[in-house]
Amino acid sequence: MRHTVLTGDRPTGPLHIGHYFGSLANRIRLQDEHDVYVLVADYQVITDRDLPGEIKRNTVDVVLDYLAIGLSNTTIFQHSAIPELNQLLLPFLSLVTVSELQRNPTVKDEIAHSSQAAVSGLMFTYPVHQAADILFCKGDLVPVGKDQLPHIEVTRVIARRFNERYAPVFPVPDALLSETPLLNGLDGGKMSKSRGNAIALKATDDETAALIRRAVTDAERHITFEPERRPEVANLLTIAGLCTGRSPEAIAEEVGDAGASGLKRLVTEAVNEFFRPIRDKRRSLAETDVHDVLREGNARAREVAVRTLDEVRQAMGYAFGP
Ligand code: TRP
Repeated sequence: MRHTVLTGDRPTGPLHIGHYFGSLANRIRLQDEHDVYVLVADYQVITDRDLPGEIKRNTVDVVLDYLAIGLSNTTIFQHSAIPELNQLLLPFLSLVTVSELQRNPTVKDEIAHSSQAAVSGLMFTYPVHQAADILFCKGDLVPVGKDQLPHIEVTRVIARRFNERYAPVFPVPDALLSETPLLNGLDGGKMSKSRGNAIALKATDDETAALIRRAVTDAERHITFEPERRPEVANLLTIAGLCTGRSPEAIAEEVGDAGASGLKRLVTEAVNEFFRPIRDKRRSLAETDVHDVLREGNARAREVAVRTLDEVRQAMGYAFGP
């Protein structure tokens, strides 16, 4: 069955190898058999901070990452280029209650980690805008990480309630969770662009080596794969496993008494080897390639959005007909 797949990323910095194994690799597989939309969620950047920051630079970086990994048969577009998403937001807001919005565990977590002094209205309503991201193209499959499940649930509720109250316009989408284990950062915390603990896709060989050299390990010399007892060492072994297609256990056995430094050498080599073609491709691209891709993707997404908004206005009885 052919699906309409929609997913996206907030442009807050270049993507890292955790993104790659967690979700980007999946998109490459999906794009040949399904209609895939990938969103640069630029309006979502201002949910947990006051300013969009270097939004253009970050948008270019994210799209270069997309193109470098091989997204080609995909509609790549930006929130800020599709005003119809905002027009869908309004009726969608009428379909959810304030207490439903306040209960969202991912929103609560983001509020706890936010750098803002006060919580904005967007923080509570962006999941509804995200429903518009998914439903404007009638997306029925949404590849995401676990943290996004509450937002997918909001989308499902909105689709169901719209269809019940007005007319059956929307599919009720499903989340598609990645099977790859979540990678940790090199400091043992969550791998994150903003924490300096992530290996960017675009990092050079030397930058990669320097980051891995600083990675946290433990005091035991002999290397073993024990995720519960030795999470930092296990994380490095997992990274090497993903990059080489081998099992982390086998790699642990090979490194053995070479210890943390032997392990780090092996991981560095594995990462640099695996990402070399992607990094080479990225260097061969120019900013104008990004502009071309976005111009085309935005136009295509907009056409679909205009059509869906029209259906919504018809279903709700606002439109005067053809
Ligand atoms: N909230 C997602 C994130 O932080 C990005 C996103 C925006 C998204 N709109 C989406 C993901 C729609 C899936 C579907 O990573």
